[in-house]
Amino acid sequence: MCIYLSRPDITDKEIEAVCAVLRSPDLSLGPRLAEFEQAFADYIGRKRAVAVNSGTSGLFLCILALGIEPGDEVITMPFTFVASATSIIMAGARPVFVDIDPVSLNIDPAKIESAITKKTKAILPVEVFGNPAGFDTVCEIARKHNLSVIEDSCEALGSALKGKKAGTFGKMSVFGFYPNKQITTGEGGMILTDDDALADVCVSLRNQGRGKATGWLAHERLGYNYRISDINCALGIVQLSRIDEIKAKRRQVAEWYYEMLADDDRLIVPTEPDDCELSWFVFVVRLAKGFTTEQRDRILKQMLNRNIQVSNYFPPVHLMPFIAEKFGYKSGDFPITESASKRTIALPFHNHLTKDQVATVCITLKQFLA
Ligand SMILES: Cc1ncc(COP(=O)(O)O)c(C=O)c1O
Repeated sequence: MCIYLSRPDITDKEIEAVCAVLRSPDLSLGPRLAEFEQAFADYIGRKRAVAVNSGTSGLFLCILALGIEPGDEVITMPFTFVASATSIIMAGARPVFVDIDPVSLNIDPAKIESAITKKTKAILPVEVFGNPAGFDTVCEIARKHNLSVIEDSCEALGSALKGKKAGTFGKMSVFGFYPNKQITTGEGGMILTDDDALADVCVSLRNQGRGKATGWLAHERLGYNYRISDINCALGIVQLSRIDEIKAKRRQVAEWYYEMLADDDRLIVPTEPDDCELSWFVFVVRLAKGFTTEQRDRILKQMLNRNIQVSNYFPPVHLMPFIAEKFGYKSGDFPITESASKRTIALPFHNHLTKDQVATVCITLKQFLA
């Protein structure tokens, strides 16, 4: 029996909602799209929500909507999923990386100002592993320098900092709904903003550049097909209605891991910062200083051989060969990211895990740590 790294939580309610769309004539651009967007905007507390077919296309459209072009720079962090940076590169702009805080693993606000140049147009911080720590400070810096914040909230649905929800910090914010996320639409993403003009541009960009009042074959700008189907939206509506239940189940799994691993000084376990409410996305432990990358990689292999799925979230983005070569980044540029990346192990984490399975994961991990 395999213990999966992630698994979606789908009930009969989701299945019935999807089947209802399949029985209707409205598979795309139908009523579920508007309903999902409204429900999501209401849940986060923002004026507009624009649903798209992935988190990556959501980030890319935000960058285009803000007018970021070749020659511009966008500040982001190298400890993240690659799409935070590739969405900038897709627009022809340069990702300028800033190292992370060693505790929160989010962008280090103290290092942002020295990375700002005349070409900087925006900051794209990521709520890594769902943690919004430091986002208030990042926004203050952006305000001071008149920069937009594109908040990559793909991992943070349901998290909050000092009572303020993830997804409310950026001028534009983006969530992702791949099946490992807190809620899934199969594939999908959501752009949030309080700015009607930006939201309207995103609506047009996701639908081949069509205008609001123009016909199906009248295209006002270079656009894309980043539409999300009503089938996906129906799934998302039900998943979103269950977010509190889903969050509670994930919190329980995180608590079991914490109970079983927190006192092991060979590990650094994730904790919830005092001023944050974490909506648990993953449970990523770090091996203590002294462990080598080779040892970490050997443990990953041994766990996989025991049918326990684990992963190395995240390899440093600035060292991915196509990014390092194109922008001249090299090993040693971001030591905190590189040091964290070498020692992470993402453990199986999803709603279906039982306490026994969590115990199996922890016992096996401890055995290989020895
Ligand atoms: C931080 C972060 N940004 C962006 C994305 C991209 O989302 P998607 O896979 O839906 O394109 C993801 C999700 O995988 C992510 O974790």
